[in-house]
Amino acid sequence: MAGDTISFARGAPSADILPHEQVREAASRALASDWETALSYGVGIGHPGLCRWVAERHGHLDADQVMITNGSLEAGAMLFGHLLGPGDRVVVEQPTYDRTLLLLQQLGVELVPVRLEADGLDVGQLEAALSEGPVKLAHVIANAHNPAGCTLSTEKRHRLVELAAEHDFWIFEDDPYRELPFEGEPLQTMLSLDEGGKVVHASSFSKTVSPGVRVGYLAGPAEEIGKLAKKANETYISPNMLAESIVLELCRSGELDRNIEFVKGELKARCDALVAALREQLPEAEFVVPDGGYFLWLDLAEGTDTPALLAEAKSEGVSFVAGPDFMIEGGGNSLRLSFAPVPADRAAEGVSRIAGALERMRSGSPA
Ligand SMILES: Cc1ncc(COP(=O)(O)O)c(C=O)c1O
Repeated sequence: MAGDTISFARGAPSADILPHEQVREAASRALASDWETALSYGVGIGHPGLCRWVAERHGHLDADQVMITNGSLEAGAMLFGHLLGPGDRVVVEQPTYDRTLLLLQQLGVELVPVRLEADGLDVGQLEAALSEGPVKLAHVIANAHNPAGCTLSTEKRHRLVELAAEHDFWIFEDDPYRELPFEGEPLQTMLSLDEGGKVVHASSFSKTVSPGVRVGYLAGPAEEIGKLAKKANETYISPNMLAESIVLELCRSGELDRNIEFVKGELKARCDALVAALREQLPEAEFVVPDGGYFLWLDLAEGTDTPALLAEAKSEGVSFVAGPDFMIEGGGNSLRLSFAPVPADRAAEGVSRIAGALERMRSGSPA
């Protein structure tokens, strides 16, 4: 095996781009000015100051439309538990985030797959699904999709919100990558377009501060947020107030915005290096070039077995996640590469190892 393993597997940045000094200093300031809130039990909505900050950041929300959670996966799990029951029809993108897929499968809902296009969910296929019966919720990852890397177009955002009002279903706008477009400003959220109160938005500080801080949030109609906050309070009293106080300090001091600019630059460099290496060393691979975030979804030639390729690749010192993990069925010739953990100068070596593993698998002479 050539050197250390290069892992394109985890949706997490390498430690060298975590803002550890800024967080240390923010923690010290938070414990000087906000220690009473930070060190006490809070309430179900989390830190009220951070709820206000998030509402202002979105620009069109009141603070009672926001609750802070221990990361956005928890936010999604709470929302699913609150809105869904066995047998409900739930639209999921294909491919989709593996962890939310698992949560939905555990709830016993009926999963309705809708494929992704280069500009997000195939709205025609969603309309066909709606004509076959009522849908309770559609799970949509709007920006820099995990795992597909694509971003939902503005036109489709408008259409989805219209359809939700017309057919009375919830949209769960799962949006942890919104603040990480490589060029320009983030697109309008579906939450901001929603006049019928059918969109619940989730986002996170995992990708803009760090995943270990475990601070995310839900934003949506005040009535639903109120019910969810009550449930949160009955379950865990309050989320982690110390972490939220530190995040609020980063937000208020401008460190958050500075870090977002820094992280976007690093991610773009990593993505560019990966794309160049793929074009050179794996020309059969088809992919949408990501316009932000962490992930690139690769389709290899029909008939390629990516779970088998992964086993081969691991013995070559490289890893990724095989496509079937993100699918209800199929995905066997696809895989997800996360460029966030791989510094730009390691991308070519990582791709070369994948290409080598593929060649060996196909020639029938595994390592
Ligand atoms: C689409 C999506 N939703 C939710 C999450 C969970 O994020 P958090 O760390 O905020 O729980 C992730 C993390 O990778 C994600 O990709």
